[in-house]
Amino acid sequence: MTKKLTIQDLAAMRDKTRSLTVLRDGAGRAKVTVHMGTCGIAAGARDIMETLLEEIRSRGLQDVIVTTSGCAGLCNREPMATVEIKDQPPVKYVRLTPDKMRRVIAEHVLDGRIVAEYALAVGSETMY
Ligand code: FES
Repeated sequence: MTKKLTIQDLAAMRDKTRSLTVLRDGAGRAKVTVHMGTCGIAAGARDIMETLLEEIRSRGLQDVIVTTSGCAGLCNREPMATVEIKDQPPVKYVRLTPDKMRRVIAEHVLDGRIVAEYALAVGSETMY
């Protein structure tokens, strides 16, 4: 039997779709994806997500999109997050802690400087 969609399900779908299109349409300046596969969650991805949301809320950031994905294929480097600044290649951050996440937000998301010591890769070519 198929589950009936509720109004809340539809609202969640709308919000997710909207957040995915905001960056493309130019309204979002940055997108942060927290990788929340089982390995990420086991390694502390929920704390990373809570920290990210708290920073966005406390700093009043309106143009940063937060989303989640599954496992990025590097369990031993979790928790991980990918930061995408508009018109720049994505940067994957690994072995994050709440303090590291705060620094990534302050330096990369807000100031545009990649925190190289926490970064695994820029785009799919450049390795740190
Ligand atoms: S769950 Fe992370 S690599 Fe499979």
